[in-house]
Amino acid sequence: MASLFITGISELVTPRRSGAHHGAEMRDLLIVQDAALLLRDGFIVWMGSRKDWSGEAEECIDLGGRAVVPGLIDPHTHAVWAGDRLNDFEARCAGVPYETILASGGGIWHTIRETAKTSCAELMELSLPRIEALMRSGATVIEVKSGYGFSVEAELRMLEAIRELQARVPARLVPTLLIHVPPMDAKEREQYRAMLCNELIPRAAQSGLATAVDIFVEENAWSAADAEVVLRCAQTHGLGIKLHAEQFHRVGGLELGIALGALSVDHLEACCAEQCSLFGGARTIATILPGVSLHLGLPPAPGRALIDTGAAVAVGTDLNPGSSPLFSISAALALAVRLNGLTPAEALVACTANAAAALGLDSGALIAGQRADFVVVDSSDWRDLAYTLGGSAVHQVWASGRRVAG
Ligand code: NIG
Ligand code: FE
Repeated sequence: MASLFITGISELVTPRRSGAHHGAEMRDLLIVQDAALLLRDGFIVWMGSRKDWSGEAEECIDLGGRAVVPGLIDPHTHAVWAGDRLNDFEARCAGVPYETILASGGGIWHTIRETAKTSCAELMELSLPRIEALMRSGATVIEVKSGYGFSVEAELRMLEAIRELQARVPARLVPTLLIHVPPMDAKEREQYRAMLCNELIPRAAQSGLATAVDIFVEENAWSAADAEVVLRCAQTHGLGIKLHAEQFHRVGGLELGIALGALSVDHLEACCAEQCSLFGGARTIATILPGVSLHLGLPPAPGRALIDTGAAVAVGTDLNPGSSPLFSISAALALAVRLNGLTPAEALVACTANAAAALGLDSGALIAGQRADFVVVDSSDWRDLAYTLGGSAVHQVWASGRRVAG
């Protein structure tokens, strides 16, 4: 592939390196004014100040004085589902809590019933526009979970739909097997857990359909004791692990995730001050999901306190039909600034290098040797990305050296 020289970059703004950034490191951005990028074969081969480049390139593009940041990474979505949750939405608006709907067999259970009867091809067609919307909002890497299948066959079908989607979109999709909600009856729950460990997790691992296992630890979902069995099983099959924890109640999910070396513990709306400091020095990323606080009216996860006590924080959309119908990673970034108290710089690192670390990836920075995934901001000042609400500050999205949106 020919080399491509990109100029007209008012400022190139990036974490200085890939990998997890903890605490104050999250504010330490590299900002190169009047910058240029040289791309070849989908990778960045050179980046720096325009005046420092004296070589040649086969092709040149001028971005017209716009800012460039790394491609955004959405580390938490449930983008594959069937049916809708509009009745739940209306009930919640009238005061019925999310947890009450779930405990009475609606909510997530409703989506499971709808998804389990939908074919792989239909799931793919329903999900494609959601993934495309995330891409237009700046995402070049998107984690996608199963979790609305319940049976082995339906969970694997969801993971197959994610694999099929990968062939249709230029963004990189990272598939996660989500163990979402257990049978209510104790005996059935035990049998179901055995089936997860003996059949579903081994099949997901052997087929390569998932790279990690996630589990929902909550009063109306899995206990920390059950989650430990499931997550240890995932680890013995070579899969990464992550948790939905501390969304409504503190039932031990956060502590379990950190003790097992999870890639991330996600949600954290109910995380208290003492728990924040547990992330300092841990390899586990604290992933916060401002769309859930906005949509369900939950207290925002303590993003500010997490960073101030040394956590590496990531931000995701949690795109799903029940708790976060948020189809934009740049909106999640902007909401993390308003709701969770992140600075714009911290929010950028949370949606790039730290989001990559939450997926076990060593990416999310614009440096030579990395994939040429970047966002061209529709402004000379990158902070418009964190500032804009409603409209979009994303002008173009590039993935592997190709313009894929805008
Ligand atoms: O991340 N809380 C558990 N799971 C999802 C919601 C799924 C749904 O409501 O459909 C979440 O909030
Ligand atoms: Fe989620």
